[in-house]
Amino acid sequence: MRSVAEVRGAVRDARAAGRRVGLVPTMGALHEGHLSLIRRARADTDLVIVSLFVNPTQFNAQDDLAAYPRDEARDAALAEGEGADILFAPPVDEVYPDGFATTIHIAGLTEVLCGAYRGPAHFDGVTTVVTKLFQMTTPDVAFFGQKDAQQVLVVRRLVRDLDITVRIEACPTVREPDGLAMSSRNAYLDADARQQAGAINRALEAADRALAGGETDAAALLAIAREVLAGARIEPEYLELRHPEDLRPLEAVEGDALLAVAAHVGRARLIDNRMLSHPAKEHA
Ligand code: PAF
Repeated sequence: MRSVAEVRGAVRDARAAGRRVGLVPTMGALHEGHLSLIRRARADTDLVIVSLFVNPTQFNAQDDLAAYPRDEARDAALAEGEGADILFAPPVDEVYPDGFATTIHIAGLTEVLCGAYRGPAHFDGVTTVVTKLFQMTTPDVAFFGQKDAQQVLVVRRLVRDLDITVRIEACPTVREPDGLAMSSRNAYLDADARQQAGAINRALEAADRALAGGETDAAALLAIAREVLAGARIEPEYLELRHPEDLRPLEAVEGDALLAVAAHVGRARLIDNRMLSHPAKEHA
């Protein structure tokens, strides 16, 4: 479907029949991570909408919107194969018609981690388009990948602050056999960079193991992760330990903590994260 009117019609009919609506928002270039979200939506809701919209407002100059991988026919076949009912792929002017003048900005959460490096426009673009997608499709449940941990927190805050009646489900990161988090941007990696990229997950694992062994100091845990990255010649853009809900920096792991990393590897900017828990809490 290309138009909001068509999607609204389908949603209206589904609701009239007592069916629950699930939304999986994507920018296409679907991979196993997206497919796991569609499968989850298929299991939990009755009308599964996959949106495919490469949102221009969340890209910055270095991101190169024009180079973003696009193959709508392939994405449509994959989504259908997982049981999606509707692929909603609106053209840009259906989402941002002439004269569009509204931006949704969330303070605080968007200023750190990816927000600090990609600039404030990135999350403004995400929150604005996600609000629009929610308004267009009015889902009961929307499914997001935990790989974008900051995005999940930002979307949860959006929904809470604007009283949007959708439940946000964050689904586990899907990984390649060597642990690399699946991402549309992995397509940019050549063989060497692909090899290097496996170190990102190994770095997160090393910090997690050190925590399990009793090291709770943030600086020490970050140094352990940084050493693994350095071994693969990766200089992270950021590698930080933060509170898993409000993203304030942590000096030590006392309960739960979000260990988050971003790094440029070859031509790709990759992100990943791991939720850490203090061993005493895990065994409590
Ligand atoms: O995670 C993404 O692919 C995008 O940020 C989203 C949520 C589809 C909004 O454009």
